[in-house]
Amino acid sequence: MSNFKSLVSGVGNLNKTKKYYDDWSKNYDATLKLWNYQAPKKSIKFLKETTNFKPKNILDLACGTGLFGAELKKIYPKSHIYGSDISKKSLKISLEKKIYTKLQIKNFEELHHYKIKFNLISLIGSMTYCKNFDKLFANINKNLKEKGLVLFTHRIDLWEKQDFLSILKKHQKLLKITKISRPLHYLPMNKDFKNKIKIKIVLLQKY
Ligand SMILES: C[S@@+](CC[C@H](N)C(=O)[O-])C[C@H]1O[C@@H](n2cnc3c(N)ncnc32)[C@H](O)[C@@H]1O
Repeated sequence: MSNFKSLVSGVGNLNKTKKYYDDWSKNYDATLKLWNYQAPKKSIKFLKETTNFKPKNILDLACGTGLFGAELKKIYPKSHIYGSDISKKSLKISLEKKIYTKLQIKNFEELHHYKIKFNLISLIGSMTYCKNFDKLFANINKNLKEKGLVLFTHRIDLWEKQDFLSILKKHQKLLKITKISRPLHYLPMNKDFKNKIKIKIVLLQKY
């Protein structure tokens, strides 16, 4: 995995993204530690500051190697955490960490089929790859319990380019915008991101 530049510009289509994260999977955790990846810990902090609920069932979309799952497990040790991702090799690493109740290979824009509804659905560090927000939110709505929460991060450069607030407002009938963070550091030790590309953390709630 040499072309980290493509992290900024986007990897390409679904197959390219899958291969990119498959190839990176073994070194992903170590690389992100070097870059001081902040999204998982900051998202948990944001969630804890905003709500004191204890979700019984959590779905971690684009869970990758389980970095956010590990943070969830620390604060919600009794919750059932499900995960999905398109990278089979990343999921294999997640599986070894024994964080998730169930893992599946799945595109987050496709409807996931579970017997349960989730109290919390997360998408951390991965909104970059969404090509069709309607499909993603349809999947989230289908699987989220009433009053359930959606927690995600999104890069501010893409947010502005996509006029992302209007996308959120379009989905407000079902998902209320509860809180949006100020700009936060994302990968402070990565030269392409550092102070240049920050993220916002967003919390939505189903009516
Ligand atoms: C930067 S990683 C974030 C992983 C994890 N959430 C974390 O915080 O470490 C992005 C992840 O999104 C996954 N991904 C990209 N596009 C996806 C899609 N359409 N559906 C599901 N997963 C996707 C990749 O395979 C990768 O694991």
